[in-house]
Order: sequence, then C-alpha cells, then structure tokens
Amino acid sequence: MSECKSAVITGVNGQDGSYLAELLLEKGYKVVGLKRRTSSNNISRISNLLPNPNFILRNCDLNDISSINNIIFEFKPTEVYNLAAQSHVAVSFEMPEYTTETICHGTLNLLNAIRFISPTSKFYQASSSEMFGDSKDYKENGYTEESIFKPVSPYAVSKTYAHYTTQVYRAAYGIHGSCGILFNHESPRRGETFVTRKITMAAARIKKGLQDKLFLGNLDAKRDWGFAGDYVEAMWMMLQQPVGDDYVIATGKTYTVREFLEVVFEYAGLGSYKKYVEIDPQFMRPNEVPYLLGDSTKARKILGWEPKISMEQLARMMYDTDLAELRK
Ligand code: NAP
Ligand code: GDD
Repeated sequence: MSECKSAVITGVNGQDGSYLAELLLEKGYKVVGLKRRTSSNNISRISNLLPNPNFILRNCDLNDISSINNIIFEFKPTEVYNLAAQSHVAVSFEMPEYTTETICHGTLNLLNAIRFISPTSKFYQASSSEMFGDSKDYKENGYTEESIFKPVSPYAVSKTYAHYTTQVYRAAYGIHGSCGILFNHESPRRGETFVTRKITMAAARIKKGLQDKLFLGNLDAKRDWGFAGDYVEAMWMMLQQPVGDDYVIATGKTYTVREFLEVVFEYAGLGSYKKYVEIDPQFMRPNEVPYLLGDSTKARKILGWEPKISMEQLARMMYDTDLAELRK
C-alpha cells in the first residue's frame, strides 16, 4: 500500500463511515473499512463500494485488541478514522458498560496500536458536541473548542475520555491526532432511531397511509443539525493539516425538535404535526442536553471548511428519500 494513500475507517458501515469511504475512494485512497461481525450482514450503506478494488472490508471489533493490532500492522495506513461507537445517547443509559468499552477502550486500543506499530499514521477521533452537555459555556455564536465540557450521559462521558486521551497521545507521543467535535449531522443514511430519521420516515409512512401516529420524547431540545456528507469532508481536511488539533464542526444554527417536525410535516403536505405526534415518556431521557449550537469559526478559517446544506434542505432530502423508498 505504499504507492498511494491508505486509510483505515472503523465503523465503515455506519452513516459517516459510508460517506467518508466514498469521499476517500474518490480521492484515490485505498480504503480499509472495518466492521464488527454481526449475524445479519449489516452492509447496506456500503454495498455499492464492494466491487471497488480499492475498497477492502474486514471484520474488526474495537474491543478485540489483536484484531486492531493485526490491521494496523498489515496496512500501516496513512490515516486512521475512528468512527466506531455505540453512538445512541439514550441507549448509553441502558448499556453504559458496553458504551464505555467501545468508546473508551476502543479508542485507547487504536491509539496504542498506532503508537507501537505505526506511529506515523494520522488519527481522527470522532468527538461529539454531546460532550458540552449542560455546561452552558457558550457565547452568542455557540460552543467553541475552548468551551467547558459537562457531559450528562454515559455516551458523552465516554466521548470526553476518548477526546482527552487523543490529546494526551498527541502531546506525550507526538501522534498526529485530531478530534472533530461534530455537532449533530444527519442524512438519508441516518440510523432509524435518531430523531430526524424517525420523523422523516414516519411522515413518509403517514403520507402513504401506512402509519397514523408518531411517538416522540422531548420536543423542546435544540440541536445544530448539518448534513453528514459535508461533515466527513471536515474529517479529511483535519488530517491534511501539518499538525493534529481539535475543531468544532457545526452549521451555526439551532432548531428545536418541534421546528424540525414542523418543516417535515409542512413539506409533506400533512398540515400540523400535532394531528399525528404523541409524547411517550419512554423516549424521554434520564438526563437531557437541552441546547446545542456550534461555532465553527476555527474550522472555517484554518481548514477552509463550511457547511453547504441547511436544516430545511436536509429535512426535505431525508423525507424525499424515505418517500421514494416506500414507493419502490
Ligand atoms: P453510526 O451510524 O451509529 O455508526 C457507528 C458504527 O460503529 C457502526 O458501523 C457500528 O456497527 C460501529 N460499531 C459499534 N460498536 C462497535 C464495536 N464495538 N466495534 C466496531 N464497530 C462498532 O454513527 P455515525 O452517525 O456514523 O457516527 C460516527 C461517529 O461519530 C460515532 O463515533 C459517533 O458517536 C460520532 N458522532 C456522530 C455524530 C452525529 O450526529 N452523527 C455527531 C458527533 C459524533 P453496527 O452497525 O454493527 O452497530
Ligand atoms: N432518538 C430520539 N428519539 N430522540 C428524541 C425523540 C425520540 O423519539 N424524541 C425527542 N428526542 C430528542 C432527544 O431527547 C434529543 O434531545 C434530540 O431529540 C436529538 O436526539 P438524537 O437524534 O437521538 O440525537 P442526540 O443529539 O441525542 O445524539 C446525536 O448527536 C450527537 C452529537 O451532538 C448522536 O448522533 C450522537 O452520536 C452524537 O454524538
């Protein structure tokens, strides 16, 4: 693999992994995509990539150190993108140990593999705006790289550990490690239990007469929603910098879940969402992050990155895709 750039992507069959793999293949990389073994072969997001001779799919669980070491030893990749995680905040309250294992130990396992086996590999860590939690340490334009973290879920605590560990390995061992503090990003490939996709799928099903109610939790939470395809470009840009660093990636606009609902239901021609939506306590969280708005000034200045898709465009894109799937 010495003739061209190579990248290892953990969680390649997830939302971001699939977009990032496409981007890197377009740029001429050899991409080694890692997925954990599951009984149902969960590769629908990357099935289009399988015929590409530059795409290699391997089984690797972040909690299986030997499988990670073998991959890093075999490929000695130019870049490693750590996207694998138990990524659902609500689920992290139900499965705190598994979430911690995958995110904390998984990241540590990868960093150690790089440190001892391939120290020139550049490393990207998928940090999260969820780490800001309820800190309220933001100004008018939102949270920055300097804002205080106050995580309020097992997921966010784990991501904060992985974030700081990446910084430690950067400072202590000179690893080119970067953390992207990404705010919520969505797409037609978003997992079906995240709120945006749950809403666009339900609206499409209601439109087709296949469903009549949508059960949701807290409609007042505010999120800074961008498009996943835009956000994976930022990941790549971070690893092209001369040194590793941390960057907030966000649109700079925030909306309530209720506003997202309104956009989707109006676009679908269904009228008010209130006719269809019921609040179900099972979707309320033991702890909630009430407000997220990101200030990506640093990424815009240093990386030249900027988001291209607005929340409204995103909502329409997701609804249109879900409706088209049902029509098939
Ligand atoms: P996603 O769709 O849930 O993908 C996560 C991937 O990790 C899946 O491929 C999953 O495999 C894999 N995975 C889970 N546990 C694993 C393990 N033990 N070993 C190996 N692979 C494992 O998440 P995403 O939205 O693409 O997000 C990518 C990363 O960015 C995640 O780390 C997430 O926490 C972080 N992040 C996401 C956002 C966002 O808004 N999307 C924002 C900030 C940060 P299975 O399909 O088998 O479960
Ligand atoms: N999932 C879900 N389901 N969320 C709901 C529901 C529901 O039925 N009803 C209301 N919500 C609210 C949640 O309480 C939360 O405030 C908001 O909708 C967004 O929830 P999610 O879409 O599950 O995303 P998240 O913000 O908790 O986490 C996502 O973004 C993080 C970055 O800030 C995930 O992608 C994380 O992996 C990511 O780190």
